[in-house]
Amino acid sequence: MKIPMDKPVLVTSALPYVNGECHIGHLRTYVPADIYVRMLRKMGHDVIFISGSDTHGTPIVLSAEAEGIAPEAVVARFHDHFKRIFKALNVDFDYYGQTNSECNHKRTGEIVKKLIDSGYVYMEETKQAFCDTCGRFLPDRYVEGECPYCGASARGDECDQGCGKHLEPGEIIAPKCKICGNEAVFKEQEHFFFHLSRFADFLASYLDNLGGTRNARNYAREWVKKELRDWCITRKLDWGVKFPGRDDLVVYVWVDAPIGYISFTEELMSGDERKWREYWKEDGATIVHFIGTDIIYHHCIFWPAMLKGAGYSLPDAVVASGMVKIDGRTFSKSRGDVVWTSEFLERFHPDTLRYYLVAQSSHTKELNFSWDSFFLRVNNELVGILGNLVHRVVSFAYKNFGVVPEGEIEEEVITKITETREEAINAVEEYEFKKLVDAVMKLADFGNGYFQREEPWHLIKKGDKERERGGEIIKNVLQMLKAVCILLEAVMPEKMVEVWSQLGMESDLQSVKLDELTVPIASGQKLKKPKKLFERVEE
Ligand code: MSP
Ligand code: ZN
Repeated sequence: MKIPMDKPVLVTSALPYVNGECHIGHLRTYVPADIYVRMLRKMGHDVIFISGSDTHGTPIVLSAEAEGIAPEAVVARFHDHFKRIFKALNVDFDYYGQTNSECNHKRTGEIVKKLIDSGYVYMEETKQAFCDTCGRFLPDRYVEGECPYCGASARGDECDQGCGKHLEPGEIIAPKCKICGNEAVFKEQEHFFFHLSRFADFLASYLDNLGGTRNARNYAREWVKKELRDWCITRKLDWGVKFPGRDDLVVYVWVDAPIGYISFTEELMSGDERKWREYWKEDGATIVHFIGTDIIYHHCIFWPAMLKGAGYSLPDAVVASGMVKIDGRTFSKSRGDVVWTSEFLERFHPDTLRYYLVAQSSHTKELNFSWDSFFLRVNNELVGILGNLVHRVVSFAYKNFGVVPEGEIEEEVITKITETREEAINAVEEYEFKKLVDAVMKLADFGNGYFQREEPWHLIKKGDKERERGGEIIKNVLQMLKAVCILLEAVMPEKMVEVWSQLGMESDLQSVKLDELTVPIASGQKLKKPKKLFERVEE
């Protein structure tokens, strides 16, 4: 999707549940979103990038209960953890909030009230899983059983091991209490429902115009075509945002979590009513959500229906990444099928992980993680192609000239860089970050071939004229390296800054725009002695 130039852009990344540590599966939402934001800025857009911790719901209270501590303590610990990880990976949010903030409580209350007042919410007695042994109701993840759609083992609100569908309370088959393991029974209880079924026509036409990736639109369309069931939006829990007028109920976590996107915009604009309204009330911005395929239903069905019902602006695009698996298996903490980000970062440079996450597969496809595939990407591409090229060219230039030599940038080189620029922009507009890195690596390859073909090492040993020509060739390769830095900064911000400084550039690479790609690198600019860019990695 082409993003209009005349409006600001708001990019969000799904809010991680802060009930445990960050694994590399999570990163497939955060790293590509960060790359997207950096590229949009390079293309001249005015962007804000927000996310925050999802602090409510049964993922948090179950973890707290297991440890015998308060939900607040779990939230505080992992909120800090996620912030640290994002910083280490240079995932650079303009604002990272948490959904238990006062502002989000207020905004959620206001939106739910608006839905009630507009007649979109009704009360009904429903069957809810209940544990006789523990003597309590079992919302969402407190209960496990079988998925009514595919038969896989599932938890109360989601078929996490099978078809991935959202489950409504009371739907799960053969429910068992997660705490004591005993069989649960169904018991009547009063709950509040959102009239999702009334939004079917709205959603059908909304989805036809929704930007983002096709997988998101298609998955959601299937649901709208089949049947939209009304959505139970309350839970019997203490921890959460109280349902208006009912002290015994909180809203379902999937109500207050996406509202966090709005509250965090408000918090970032610190109460400047006019400014945040422009984003969320007046269609004054382009809104793009980055998520994983497991939460398409929530972002393409619940969320736009809620916004529409409450009179808010609608998201323009939903970008859904494929899931990260390990040797073909779904991530699972209990089975030990998981790679923790902090352990990864103890051994490897964050830029290698950022690169791998986008280079390994198309954004909407699954990414099957294996150590071998990571080693191959780093050793063959980052060390073998990119690192080698930089080292070889900059060393040669540094030794023989010390500065960027005199000369013209050739037509052939300008054309190649311009082509790569077009490919990069297309890749960003298609959310195909693999195409972005592939295009730039192709430019690096071309630079390598050009250097090899022109043999400047022979030229500089002959007469003055030839030495001059040798210098010109070097200048052309340095121009290509400059372009590589600008185009790959979004993917490998730290490493590209290193190269940028070896080239003697003094500007701040992050704020350099794509228009600089073909601006000739300044002759006479002092080069720095190159250091090795990437180390080979092994088990
Ligand atoms: N809290 C909800 C999102 C609320 S958004 C209003 C949630 N949290 S999560 O911690 O489970 O996931 C956070 C993000 O990481 C989501 O975009 C999710 O799709 C993504 N991933 C979590 N595990 C993943 C994989 N194994 N693979 C790819 N993405 C995954 O969902
Ligand atoms: Zn299922």
